[in-house]
Amino acid sequence: MKVGILTGGGDAPGLNAVIRATVKTLKNTGESIEVYGFRDGFKGMVTNNYIELNEETASGILHLGGTILGTTNRDNPFAFSENGKKVDKSLVALKNYEELKLDCLVVIGGDGTLNIAHELSLLGINVIGVPKTIDNDLPLTDTTFGFMSAVTVATEALDRLHTTAESHHRVSILETMGRDAGWIALYAGVAGGADVILIPEIPYNIKSVHQKIEERRRNGKKFSLIVMAEGAMEENCEIDAKKGKRGFLLQEKLEASGIETRCTVLGHLQRGGSPLSYDRIIATEYGFEAAKLAIEKKYNRMVSLKGSEIISVPLEKVSGLTRFVPLDHNLILASRAIGISFGDEIKIN
Ligand code: F6P
Repeated sequence: MKVGILTGGGDAPGLNAVIRATVKTLKNTGESIEVYGFRDGFKGMVTNNYIELNEETASGILHLGGTILGTTNRDNPFAFSENGKKVDKSLVALKNYEELKLDCLVVIGGDGTLNIAHELSLLGINVIGVPKTIDNDLPLTDTTFGFMSAVTVATEALDRLHTTAESHHRVSILETMGRDAGWIALYAGVAGGADVILIPEIPYNIKSVHQKIEERRRNGKKFSLIVMAEGAMEENCEIDAKKGKRGFLLQEKLEASGIETRCTVLGHLQRGGSPLSYDRIIATEYGFEAAKLAIEKKYNRMVSLKGSEIISVPLEKVSGLTRFVPLDHNLILASRAIGISFGDEIKIN
């Protein structure tokens, strides 16, 4: 039996833990199983660039961030960049998969990567998906690996901003990643004691943010902490600032009304570094389950966490979907109950 593995999209803490668990499980079966890791995601499939993975090459990597295989969030085989043009190289990827005589391909990735994996499965490649992303925005799994590590980095950043904001009697804004979903901001905001949490799922208005800051001042708290997801937007916003710039836009608006404000964009610090133990654990369970699916020849499925169980779901049901924070999520209800503002308390329209 021969199994291919690749990591695609943005890196997330725990990628190596999945590779390690998948390879070790396959190699320890006692059967003759060869495992190949494509370099730099689907690019490695198109350019036939791979390494053999075994107990030696997949060892000593559990605690390492990033991915030993490399990754890219470009180089979609269906729209592959070549000489400044986008070319469909999916059949080249299929040919390389067939020539290597692979039985299946374990694809560790987020929404973009798993969509491509699904499209490749329609060409005849047997795919097993593993849900990765710090954004936690994949459907049909309770969580993706990498998310908790990112939340922890953001929480630590908030703790640091807290002391500075309090000493200077300022407002501090922390802009987190998360693309179009607010999971990181919500979780870190709750864990880090934010006063205002702004997420893409709840358009905010500046009046509500002001109200919260003023209310705190009246109660003797001369500083406030705002966590803002990079995708958060002001209600009826005319200027659609880019992700990574929206926190600064809010800073300008608060400063214009005389509130001393500083914005920190956390950026890729949330993706790098060693995975938290929680992520190492679920990544190991995901890798084990992916290997089991490969051995049992159960293809075109994504491994998933449901409660405390690891299951698998059809890849086609995940493809093309984003899991946003539901507005009645318990953490939103709990946050509102303890006085955290989501920037929507004053109804403008
Ligand atoms: O999907 C993970 C993520 O880190 C998002 O949170 C963010 O919007 C995006 O990737 C950033 O991508 P890049 O590393 O290409 O700038």
